[in-house]
Amino acid sequence: MVSRVIPVDVFDLVIFGGTGDLARRKILPGLYRRFMAGQMPADSRIIGAARADLTDDAFRDQVRAAIAEFAPKARQDAAVIDAFVARIHYVAIDATGTSGWAKLTGMMRDNVVRAFYFSVAPSLFGDIASRLHDHAIADPWSRIVVEKPFGRDLASARALNEVLARHFTEAQIYRIDHYLGKETVQNLMAVRFANILFEPLWKAEYIDHVQITVAETVGVNGRGAYYDTSGAMRDMVQNHMMQLLCLIAMEPPYHFDPDAVRDEKLKVIRALKPVPPENIVRGQYAAGGNESGYLDHSENPASRTESYIALKVHVSNWRWQGVPFYLRTGKRLRARASEIAITFKQPPHAIFDDAKGWHENVLVIRLQPNEGMNLMVMIKEPGPGGMRLMQVPLDMSFADAIDDGEDVPDAYERLIMDVIRGNQTLFMRGDEVEAAWAWTDPIIEGWETRGDRPQTYDPGSSGPEDALMLMHRDGRRWREIKE
Ligand code: BG6
Repeated sequence: MVSRVIPVDVFDLVIFGGTGDLARRKILPGLYRRFMAGQMPADSRIIGAARADLTDDAFRDQVRAAIAEFAPKARQDAAVIDAFVARIHYVAIDATGTSGWAKLTGMMRDNVVRAFYFSVAPSLFGDIASRLHDHAIADPWSRIVVEKPFGRDLASARALNEVLARHFTEAQIYRIDHYLGKETVQNLMAVRFANILFEPLWKAEYIDHVQITVAETVGVNGRGAYYDTSGAMRDMVQNHMMQLLCLIAMEPPYHFDPDAVRDEKLKVIRALKPVPPENIVRGQYAAGGNESGYLDHSENPASRTESYIALKVHVSNWRWQGVPFYLRTGKRLRARASEIAITFKQPPHAIFDDAKGWHENVLVIRLQPNEGMNLMVMIKEPGPGGMRLMQVPLDMSFADAIDDGEDVPDAYERLIMDVIRGNQTLFMRGDEVEAAWAWTDPIIEGWETRGDRPQTYDPGSSGPEDALMLMHRDGRRWREIKE
């Protein structure tokens, strides 16, 4: 399969927090891969901006080290790396002070796309935005990219939106949720809206329930201080899982256009019902074997922060009346496995006697690893012996559909290129983020007021026992967490 590379304009991308972890792990190696794929037009530049006093060459050495560590080994080509780092520059800058801004001003060029990536703590967004404005570094065509966490509740998200809106229009603000850059997540829209097969069945009449699982094997490790202010609800549900839910539940947008898509997602978020306490299970992983537990990473030995959460959620609209969406995400679980499973209802009338062999149709959309889709269908068990039924997968693994030699961009690469192209479809709009917090806040306030403690679970398990009950009491069960 020959990939179609959509050309991008010449750009200057300034990365605030250019020496930070995200830049090192994702942004810079990702840009290198796009450079290699021919998507960085000649003359485009990447400018790292951070507090450290570095020369261009010293920063280039850091970029080389980041590529060596985080770009795929098969893509490491010394000549290409040399050509790439030649596009890289550095400016030492004080985000809250005065130094460095005049230099950055002098580096700006006319007639190229200017993009500013705020890969810094949200407390610095306002300082950077106002300095970009005051020094006339940002022009009306400039774009800014902001990372999660976008606030920690509705009030702080609103405050951030206001700070950014002082100097930038909504069309200039790209709020990243890297889940939207994942191949399969976008495929969800293609599957729904580019096929006639599924959409007629995509409603309460035919769907029994939906499961969304984002299971991780990693723990919080060095991120305990951040995680204690966050927890799985803020870290994963308010953003990533909410986005997945939206893409499953939204109405067809009239066009694949940024605002048309985001309008439909917003309607879903607004239709989410409040979640009663009995539909929430929170967990925290214990220590096990030689492995540390959550509390070993927390600064608070009595932390009640959840590293796992399961929720039963309802979308209160015509299409989804009575269909539960079961969401779960957690760290230190038995496998890294993220998937969406849509379980369809039983046929209206059973003509076969083999009730034992019978299973519902399930559409499984696998986000990672082994991206792809499986449609579980019933067939006759081959061979003699009467009409016995069995379930088999109609298997569509995306890896098979993609040529091995092709350089499939990862989520960050794709999203950064969308910023340069000026396409906001896969970025969250301000009202969307606020609506997501408006739904999340009362859930968190609820458990804080009640003083709920998370249930502990064993590392390497499927999560807390109570999460099983969340489905069992509805006569359903979670799918197994496996790679
Ligand atoms: C991040 C969270 O946004 O997403 C992390 O802060 C989490 O806690 C990560 O581990 C998961 O991303 P991915 O792409 O590995 O599924």
